[in-house]
Amino acid sequence: MNNDPIGVFDSGVGGLTTVKELVKLLPHENIVYLGDTARVPYGTKSSTTIATYAKQDINFLLGHDVKMLLVACGTISSAMMHEPIFENVTVSYSGVVLPTAEAACKATRNKRIGVLGTSATVKSQSFANAIKAIDPGIEVTSKACPMFVPLVENGYTDRDCKVTKLIAEEYLEIMKKNEVDTLILGCTHFPHLHDIIQDTMGSDVKLISSGAELARFAVDALTRDNALSDRQTEGQRKLYCTDSVELFTETAATFLGKDNNAQIAKCILKT
Ligand code: DGL
Repeated sequence: MNNDPIGVFDSGVGGLTTVKELVKLLPHENIVYLGDTARVPYGTKSSTTIATYAKQDINFLLGHDVKMLLVACGTISSAMMHEPIFENVTVSYSGVVLPTAEAACKATRNKRIGVLGTSATVKSQSFANAIKAIDPGIEVTSKACPMFVPLVENGYTDRDCKVTKLIAEEYLEIMKKNEVDTLILGCTHFPHLHDIIQDTMGSDVKLISSGAELARFAVDALTRDNALSDRQTEGQRKLYCTDSVELFTETAATFLGKDNNAQIAKCILKT
């Protein structure tokens, strides 16, 4: 049993997809979230810069005595496969890549999986490598979708949003052409475009949310390690951002809905 909070972080609001699933699965856990909204997007930056930012994010959360670190960001999760981001970290941690790749491999029927991510994620080939390690016979089509991130950060997520639909058509053309039956939303911002992506791909294609898969992985890991909280009351959520609290609060509400147990504050990261 461990009543310390779970630490979750992302470059912005996308990682709240992990928080939402965690709250659903483990309502008694305390959660500390960091969204580095002042520096989002990470996905267009070099792996050295992503690693530097990620270490600052991690140090902030370690300062809150977290029992586990969840990298709710496809971009950082991909960078950590090559950069020593977690070198001196002693608490348990996970990124989104391996839990998501496993879920996609289980879901595919025709062995054709698509991966949508940021430019850095797709360039790293992290998801493709993880999928091939599980089943070399699976064909992987990857596509960088950098414009999806600012669309989500700015709330262009409505199912009928003409701009987002047009961009989705362009990005997803290759997925339709290659007949993928399972599509990984390898950036934690993308589940917010779930309806547009599903409408564009058709209802037969299974969408896998990397943020939600990470939350499910965390539940299994904490259960296995006997590290769940024994709190009887609902857990507290502390959500930190590095830029405007007003903007974050607005966007966070579209991810989490109304959450009476969440406090939102601005923080300054040590560089
Ligand atoms: N949420 C980040 C991810 O999962 C994307 C945003 C960014 O580019 O920083 O990759």
